[in-house]
Amino acid sequence: MDSTDRISRSQRGQLQAAPESFLQPELISEISQHGVDKRRRGLLMSALATAGAVASGVLNAADDPEIVNVPEWSRMLGKGVASPAYGQPSKYETHVTRRQSPGLTQTTQASVSFSPLQHMFGIITASGLHFERHHQGWVDIDPRRHRFMINGLVKTPMVFTLEELMRLPSVSRIHFVECGANTGMEWGNSAVPTVQYTHGMLSCSEFTGVPLSLLLDMAGYDKERARVILAEGADGSSNSRTINIENALDDVFVAYGMNGEMIRPENGYPLRLITPGLQGVSSVKWLRRVEVGDQPYATKDESVHYVDLMPDGLQRQYSSIQEAKSVITNPSGGQKLLSHGYYNITGLAWSGRGTVKKVEVSVDGGRNWREARIDGPVLPKALTRFNFDWVWDGSEALLQSRVTDSTGYIQPSKPELREVRGTRSLYHNNAIQTWKVAASGEVANVQLG
Ligand code: MTE
Repeated sequence: MDSTDRISRSQRGQLQAAPESFLQPELISEISQHGVDKRRRGLLMSALATAGAVASGVLNAADDPEIVNVPEWSRMLGKGVASPAYGQPSKYETHVTRRQSPGLTQTTQASVSFSPLQHMFGIITASGLHFERHHQGWVDIDPRRHRFMINGLVKTPMVFTLEELMRLPSVSRIHFVECGANTGMEWGNSAVPTVQYTHGMLSCSEFTGVPLSLLLDMAGYDKERARVILAEGADGSSNSRTINIENALDDVFVAYGMNGEMIRPENGYPLRLITPGLQGVSSVKWLRRVEVGDQPYATKDESVHYVDLMPDGLQRQYSSIQEAKSVITNPSGGQKLLSHGYYNITGLAWSGRGTVKKVEVSVDGGRNWREARIDGPVLPKALTRFNFDWVWDGSEALLQSRVTDSTGYIQPSKPELREVRGTRSLYHNNAIQTWKVAASGEVANVQLG
């Protein structure tokens, strides 16, 4: 075994508590695993050279007891197939979980669990880590007894079983789901310590289902009068949202699949609406009904909740689209950099209005910006992964990312957002996030300005 494989990047959380020397194998494994271009290689090699102890201490495989003494897993018969029949993450990864914010809600039914963004790679959220937001708990629906109805301004009201829906032409698309309340605790001041809590009401999956436009056509919706649809869930909260007919006919779909399998119960099994780019509450889970109407329905979920309290004291309703936003997920709050040298700053960017055009990173609190690399897929209304080479010299740093989307919109700073929206809002906070790296290497959530 190569010493460089000993520590995976997903163990970053554990590295915080690990002795200093542990950081370097992780760094080296990054370099050997990814093909780096010449410019980056130069940067990486000089970063390594300056960390002189590294070359002598870590690269010498003969010093590593795990290599000299062949570990037990190289000398034994492994486990057989299908044990367990449904695969699970390694037992060394049990720290990677969804988490609740202590004290945020009184019950776990009307609550949130946050995705561990700091432990995620690429753009897809593992299904078991997809954040949850329920208004009245999640329900385990028997798919044979579930029905989906289309009514209202239609020629023929229709009722579908799951089987009937699954016989229809389907689409599979990768989209983010972000709660309108994501980053809501951060309007006034830095309230929570880690990126899991500041930005973790955010996930991205490949969903499969039937375009709503097809179903509306089947029911013969009234093209003259239809202005909106109402989507309604089958859980006790009857969560229901008005959605513009333009959105409904564009890219909204009735999904049963998520990341190659049926949607998980807590995410809406057996059917949920996927409303790409709109705030999460519109992606109604346990979907049982879509009604076509000619005016907004002003349900409790759109007149009392998910409204924006503006500086003039008025509430803004139906601000559904999730504006462009980005966040650095590593390094991020609660972590500790254990030695000077090279770090791959990485994070996520997205826009409810289209694709990510550019991500810039600043390491000095927004005074200077440099463009980040986007190596992976850039898809509409989906998370986009960015990376940025950084050599930490040990002095205090203020890490920020800023996205520009395909409409030309640039993610605002906190002061810029507050100027337009005031400080009393809860929803739709898409401001630039700042992580402060102290000389000690500790990373903290801070607000500038
Ligand atoms: N749909 C129903 N029926 N009931 C709910 O409580 N919560 C909404 C939405 N759809 C909800 C619902 C909210 S506020 C959000 S942010 C998303 O579901 C969260 O989806 P997830 O739990 O799959 O992440």
